[in-house]
Amino acid sequence: MPRALLYSVPMSSRPSGPRIVALLNQKGGVGKTTTTVNLGAALAVSGLRTLLVDMDPQSNLSLHFGVETDEGRPSTGSLFSQPPSKVEDCIVKGRDNLSFIPADTELALVEGELAGRDGVQTVLRDALTKVAKKFDVILLDCPPGLGVLSVNALTAAHEVFVPMQAQYLALRGLEKLLGTVQLVAAGLNPNLVASGVILCMHETLSSHGKAVVDEIRGHLEQFRGADVPWRDCRLLAPPIRRNIKLAEAPSFGKTIFDYDSKCPGAEDYRRLAESVLSMWRERADADAPAPAAKA
Ligand SMILES: Nc1ncnc2c1ncn2[C@@H]1O[C@H](COP(=O)(O)OP(=O)(O)O)[C@@H](O)[C@H]1O
Ligand SMILES: [Mg+2]
Repeated sequence: MPRALLYSVPMSSRPSGPRIVALLNQKGGVGKTTTTVNLGAALAVSGLRTLLVDMDPQSNLSLHFGVETDEGRPSTGSLFSQPPSKVEDCIVKGRDNLSFIPADTELALVEGELAGRDGVQTVLRDALTKVAKKFDVILLDCPPGLGVLSVNALTAAHEVFVPMQAQYLALRGLEKLLGTVQLVAAGLNPNLVASGVILCMHETLSSHGKAVVDEIRGHLEQFRGADVPWRDCRLLAPPIRRNIKLAEAPSFGKTIFDYDSKCPGAEDYRRLAESVLSMWRERADADAPAPAAKA
């Protein structure tokens, strides 16, 4: 992608600050972490200052960068401690334009003994506000489940991407997830929208898969213009094909672009980044004030 083109893209109609995206699905193993890392890496390559936040106590995102957790380093878990770590101290530089905040098992306390603490839902939002000027894009890698950690991500985010598989029952899960987005939008974060569904580990030849894709598309279409936070949600292209290289890369602490930049997985995430950027560009155009009419 031509870098010059990207730099000329108005990234947001907001006056300032990064786009913050929660990658959410209550189901585990659907491609949230793989997408956070590799979409993030592709956005970073295209020139955007990108921060990834590991919100999962299993710390898989951190492992993609070869970071062993529980080494006493400041992390998303310690943002919730009292006193909390400074967010600046939690940020690790992964690659050019690509930083991340690792997680550790301490983060599991947030779903347990800290869950009822006053103000716990806004901890991440308050922390990210302090580093907002340093980044163009922040991607939040949510844990499975729709508990306090996912609510923290939804409270901090402007929009939600849903990685999922085109499989029977997936639509049920999508409906439940969108219900949670609606709850958070009705309370803590009125501007929150669900803007994209990303099909991961996609089997292009399966006729069952094709039928489910049509079903997901039809489901989203029926809400166009409705008063719900997913009224503009689209199926983002392309689907990410199942590609073993995507599963191998993290065991070497590498993104797909470091591991094999020519494989289908790298190609798919590169193209996904392009379509995300063009969606943001379109939306910024739509939000721009109309030019004054000529006298
Ligand atoms: N497109 C893909 N092709 C092959 N394996 C994949 C692909 N996407 C993810 N995986 C693998 O599937 C597993 C689950 O993916 P992951 O991103 O960790 O899901 P989640 O974060 O939703 O739990 C991981 O082992 C990952 O390496
Ligand atoms: Mg994960």
